[in-house]
Amino acid sequence: MTHETDRLRDLVATELGRARDRTTLLTEAVDDGDLVRQHSPLMSPLVWDLAHVGNQEELWLVRDVGGREPVRRDIDELYDAFKHSRRDRTQLPLLDPREARKYTATVRDKVLDVLDHAPMEGTPLVERAFAFGMIVQHEQQHDETMLATHQLRAGAPVLSAPPPPVPAGKVTGEVLVPAGEFTMGTSTEPWALDNERPAHRVFVPAFHIDRAPITNAEYAAFIDAGGYDDPRWWTTAGWDHRQAAGLVAPLHWTRDVSGWASTHFGRTNPINPDEPVVHVCWYEAAAYAAWAGKRLPTEAEWEKAARWDPATGRSLRYPWGDDPPGVEHANLGQRHLQPAPVGAYPAGVSPLGVHQLIGDAWEWTSSDFHGYPGFTPFPYREYSEVFFGPDYKVLRGGSFGTDRSAVRGTFRNWDYPIRRQIFSGFRCARDA
Ligand SMILES: [Fe+2]
Repeated sequence: MTHETDRLRDLVATELGRARDRTTLLTEAVDDGDLVRQHSPLMSPLVWDLAHVGNQEELWLVRDVGGREPVRRDIDELYDAFKHSRRDRTQLPLLDPREARKYTATVRDKVLDVLDHAPMEGTPLVERAFAFGMIVQHEQQHDETMLATHQLRAGAPVLSAPPPPVPAGKVTGEVLVPAGEFTMGTSTEPWALDNERPAHRVFVPAFHIDRAPITNAEYAAFIDAGGYDDPRWWTTAGWDHRQAAGLVAPLHWTRDVSGWASTHFGRTNPINPDEPVVHVCWYEAAAYAAWAGKRLPTEAEWEKAARWDPATGRSLRYPWGDDPPGVEHANLGQRHLQPAPVGAYPAGVSPLGVHQLIGDAWEWTSSDFHGYPGFTPFPYREYSEVFFGPDYKVLRGGSFGTDRSAVRGTFRNWDYPIRRQIFSGFRCARDA
């Protein structure tokens, strides 16, 4: 056994443990009634996410990598995300909370045994522990989804966290990114998913991009200026949706005599003017940008602003460099239950001087979700390829609810342009 194999096994065990601790926290914070209840037709009951996390782990690590006998082949169909829509999942004969916990624990015990014996090279699935990394990210992604379900849940607060750090200084304005090629995507990041691959050169014309995400105060100015009532700022589809859905402000915002307030995990407070706005859909983001005389950045613009180092011409793993995210770099991992005010992470700035690209709020881009040149589906088409096309917009950078294992400079998320139960915000760009 090599030193590298030992290192990978330790890393996987640590990361699997961190993911499970978070899943446990999110599913033990509420009672069984809240676990099986549907808090929104947009979301699964929490108990479905819990057993689905275990089922994916069983499929990929126990059966595929480990070559072991199935634990519960009979439940595969119930927890196949492509078989049942979220709104229908409460109607299924799901495992109850006690059974779901027992099942995920049984699977995890087997996986830790597989981990002790599995090779860490030889096939693409096990190379540098890829399949384990995929499952770690899958569980953390469901944890973020469960956190969004908590945000939609009615009732007394059950989650708490300390406030994010205060800003070290003001961050305003925009930076000019010069025209030129940069390397987008990755062919070397060991746990990067198929849609982040391969690395390829992209020419990006000169553009300006905001140094910080759009804040609550900036967004409130758009509302106060009548932005929701003026079809000039909205795309045709966006205006139709704004009217049909009755949009007047971000999700979870309410107005009283003293101004706008927002509700975070059961607690309602006046909005913090300096915090990045969150819970806006793509149509709202694009309308704001048009009102401001700007536009959303393309995905390539966002990634160049985040990764391109003009001193070396190289693309970094993260805006601050190649080191994994530390607490000083970005607001990640549910450490705080809200975005941090603009300027709170000076150590996370990109070489071009752009702040808070990673963490705080997912950032909508103008781009549809497509495969990069040379894209190869891996390990299965359902991971990304079936979502390619004009229906989905790409989001970048992760939110306060994203774990550090499930985000990087190349990481791509996607969703429908009407969705805003996710922790989504944006920043603006414009042509130079
Ligand atoms: Fe899933």
